[in-house]
Amino acid sequence: MALIALAADKGAPGVTTAAIALGAVWPRPVLVAECDQAGGDLVYRLPAEGGGMLNPSRGLLSLAATARRGLRPDQIPEHAQRLVGGLDVLAGVTNAEQAQALTWLWAPLGRCFASLHPVDVLADCGRLGAGSPLNDLLREADMIVLLTRASLEQVAHLRERIGVLTSAESRTRAPIGVVVIADPRDYRGSIAEVERIVAQASLPATVLGGFAYDPKGAELLRGQWGGRLDKSLLIRSARELAGGLLGRLPVRAALPVDVRVTSDPARPRAPLAQPAPPAPSERGR
Ligand SMILES: Nc1ncnc2c1ncn2[C@@H]1O[C@H](COP(=O)(O)OP(=O)(O)OP(=O)(O)O)[C@@H](O)[C@H]1O
Ligand SMILES: [Mg+2]
Repeated sequence: MALIALAADKGAPGVTTAAIALGAVWPRPVLVAECDQAGGDLVYRLPAEGGGMLNPSRGLLSLAATARRGLRPDQIPEHAQRLVGGLDVLAGVTNAEQAQALTWLWAPLGRCFASLHPVDVLADCGRLGAGSPLNDLLREADMIVLLTRASLEQVAHLRERIGVLTSAESRTRAPIGVVVIADPRDYRGSIAEVERIVAQASLPATVLGGFAYDPKGAELLRGQWGGRLDKSLLIRSARELAGGLLGRLPVRAALPVDVRVTSDPARPRAPLAQPAPPAPSERGR
């Protein structure tokens, strides 16, 4: 179904956090794929279903090993793993050196993600640098979502990145959406400010909305302690954003919303409201 590439230009505004939060509330079957070339964080950050650690060798690396002679969408689910709470993820490489050996993978992987039925893929593309091989994946995306904080520096870098992405050399065709990671105390104001800058500079991008800057919610999402994640500002803003994002997808990718169906129909995805994962100190006891 849809391939949505989430990325940033500079800093660590919260791309991985947003990818997980969106995945957790996504109203259609979804896979969060860690495509960050700097190396993934999921294995260290989130427990697998059952409470153990995710297997770091199962994911992009194992998929690449089987895909040398061609990659088909039906190979992808075999390499996915399920997080506590029910979200399916494709774990990324563990360091940048591994990513350097995988530059050939991004184009076929992007094509497979975009035709993975009936699953949408949220690809965490990390920070996009100069001449990034990830451009091959971005070219297959239905939408590129750039995350930014509302600071002057980050918005300046965002402008530059939009310019690069829409240049002739990049050859990306997907619409570009901007998400502002905004302090709840000035949520609407921060979004409006970024909207104003995007409009004034006539940037070929649309501000999709905000994602709450919510340190407590971000910690809960890492599974460091139990709590009311489902009601956190982070998750509430993720819900609103997911709806807005789906509404803006190009027609090809905007097929019906099928509430809470998983990529594995036999095992319904658990809602986030279930008890929070144990603290790391309690895991494995
Ligand atoms: N919406 C948010 N509210 C509060 N804290 C956040 C939010 N998003 C991320 N953080 C915090 O900011 C830090 C970086 O987050 P994250 O790893 O998601 O960023 P990133 O953009 O993926 O970074 P990198 O480029 O290093 O992969 C983490 O400590 C995370 O808990
Ligand atoms: Mg990240």
